[in-house]
Amino acid sequence: MASQTEELSQLEDDARAAIEAATTVQNLTEVRAGYLGRKGSLAAILRGIGQLEPAERGRVGQSANASKERIEAWVAARRQALEASDRSANLAQHQLDTSLPGAAGYPGQLHPVTRIEREIADFFTSMGFAIEDGPEVETDFNNFGALNFPDDHPARDMQDTFFVEGNNVLRTHTSNVQIRAMTGRTPPFRFVALGRVYRHDLDATHYPMFHQVEGFMVDERTSFGDLKGVLYAFARHLMGQEIQLRFRPHFFPFTEPSAEMDFSWQGGWLEWGGCGMIHPQVLENCGVDSERFQGFAFGMGIDRSAMLRFGIPRITHMFDGDLRILGQR
Ligand code: DAH
Repeated sequence: MASQTEELSQLEDDARAAIEAATTVQNLTEVRAGYLGRKGSLAAILRGIGQLEPAERGRVGQSANASKERIEAWVAARRQALEASDRSANLAQHQLDTSLPGAAGYPGQLHPVTRIEREIADFFTSMGFAIEDGPEVETDFNNFGALNFPDDHPARDMQDTFFVEGNNVLRTHTSNVQIRAMTGRTPPFRFVALGRVYRHDLDATHYPMFHQVEGFMVDERTSFGDLKGVLYAFARHLMGQEIQLRFRPHFFPFTEPSAEMDFSWQGGWLEWGGCGMIHPQVLENCGVDSERFQGFAFGMGIDRSAMLRFGIPRITHMFDGDLRILGQR
């Protein structure tokens, strides 16, 4: 018995020294296995217990357990100390410079055209116009026929139409909304429609898909003067107080008289859109009494305004998804 007790106390002393000497967690784990593992020194001592007197076995077993617990406690304490110093070494090595500028995030951003569209919608809403909508795949009738484009007339080619199955087209302008909004309604009314339109065209300022705003107002005494007043207010809201407009006589099948308008820009003129007094036949096509009512209409592209506003030189830049364009404020 005495010999086992001595062995145990020697083993504890050795273990303690080895534990204190361990310099890494990995090293400590190996030391622990050497003393407490299945093939370790303590296990060897325990295997010898079988040879002892039965009366002695219990006592030696108990001391062995007590040794084991003490060794486990030293291992745990040493492990904690090693982990703590690992952590501080790690922190010292990977220092964080909190004065560095943060990484900029990429918050969501509305498309330049969407922003102009919303601005335009807000402006016309404030002028008492209601927002109206229409489909991009439109019947030939709503896009052309009801707007007084004669059947098989070259005027239809004038707009480089994309034809769709059946008697449908991709709408070439937002004027289709005039027909949809006026049919079945009795004036007075005033509407604006904003949206995508399509034409077979592609260069620095033309894209096969672009955006227009259409406005129209019908009442008993609506005049060309009202039209000019609205257009001036709109142009100045959109492009600045100093903007001038120029009206040139023109032909559209759905207005009479008709004009094209330009706005002043950097000492010259830029084409803006078309306008006129709604043709009485168009009113009749929509079931509006043209003897009693008259109205004006106008329509223009809005992509150009977005390009000027944000300094985007080519229309394709707006639609190829480049974040440098999309991220502008
Ligand atoms: N729809 C015409 C176009 O896209 C523009 C236009 C001209 C609209 C005169 C109108 C208008 O409402 O009165 O070329």
